[in-house]
Amino acid sequence: MMPYHHTSVMKKEVLRYLNCRPGKVYADCTLGGSGHALAVLADIMPEGLLIGMDQDRDAVENAEKVLASYAANVRIFHSNFEYLSDIFSELNLKGADGILLDLGLSLHQIEGSGRGFSFRRDEPLDMRMDTRAEMTAADLIAETDAGELEKIFRNYGEERWSGRIARKIATVRKQKAITTSAQLAQIVCDAVPSRPRAGAPGCSRHPATRVFMAVRIAVNRELERLEAFMEEAVSLLNPEGRLCVISFHSLEDRIVKQRMKALEKGCICPPDFPQCICKRKGTLRVLTRKALPPSPDEIRMNPMSRSAKLRAAEKLRIEN
Ligand SMILES: C[S@@+](CC[C@H](N)C(=O)[O-])C[C@H]1O[C@@H](n2cnc3c(N)ncnc32)[C@H](O)[C@@H]1O
Repeated sequence: MMPYHHTSVMKKEVLRYLNCRPGKVYADCTLGGSGHALAVLADIMPEGLLIGMDQDRDAVENAEKVLASYAANVRIFHSNFEYLSDIFSELNLKGADGILLDLGLSLHQIEGSGRGFSFRRDEPLDMRMDTRAEMTAADLIAETDAGELEKIFRNYGEERWSGRIARKIATVRKQKAITTSAQLAQIVCDAVPSRPRAGAPGCSRHPATRVFMAVRIAVNRELERLEAFMEEAVSLLNPEGRLCVISFHSLEDRIVKQRMKALEKGCICPPDFPQCICKRKGTLRVLTRKALPPSPDEIRMNPMSRSAKLRAAEKLRIEN
């Protein structure tokens, strides 16, 4: 494996909102380069415990090296965060005092994994964060009908030319299998009308940016997994435990915002009911009314942090 590169975003803010304290239990569900994990461990010594996981084997191998000096205080898993409750059962843990999700991709995945996450590289069109998963990006592009591809590009990438790109893919794949990131990037460039040049005035993006993001989201089922995990994460927190989520995409941020709001409110009665009959109580207090962006200094030092948004909430102590 190439040396693992990633710069953690909003580290100070994460530590503040996670409220890391010695002797407590935290879960970093997206280890990546382990920068956040190291910072959390430093704050919870000598008796704290960090459960770390990542669905990408490279991140796990890196974490085993980077976190080796904390071996007594850390348990590392190659797993998707959707299995966090199984991991807690395996470790006989009742709950965590803080759970962190730092979504999206690490720099290593984009630049060093060789899995075709970037349209700037010519690599096999894979895009699986977890290489144990069955479906690669090449499979998705080969097997999904044009109408479905159009929906994926539109819904996950908010791509304006979704229909044209999907139809172009359907034509090209009849002649030749689409198996590399460079092929897909070229097809997108050929499909969009006036081929805006990346870097030209009014067009700072490569034409394939949105399609690559949409395919990655679909291959890894990122939004479904996040949506399902939010409530589960709260159920795995101890009273007054904190949930912190950093997202990089407006659709992810919307899910985090709406789920936190719903868990704060509790009641699920239709708005036109004169009074609550569901009797569901809120379980969370949202700590960030608005999503927190990185500081201007951080954005200057690490431009890739510019789209990060942090939201945090605290689980209520419910008295019986
Ligand atoms: C932005 S990086 C995390 C960076 C990390 N916080 C750090 O300080 O270096 C995102 C990581 O989350 C992992 N990931 C994304 N979705 C996941 C999921 N559902 N389960 C487990 N890991 C996931 C990716 O494989 C990637 O390594």
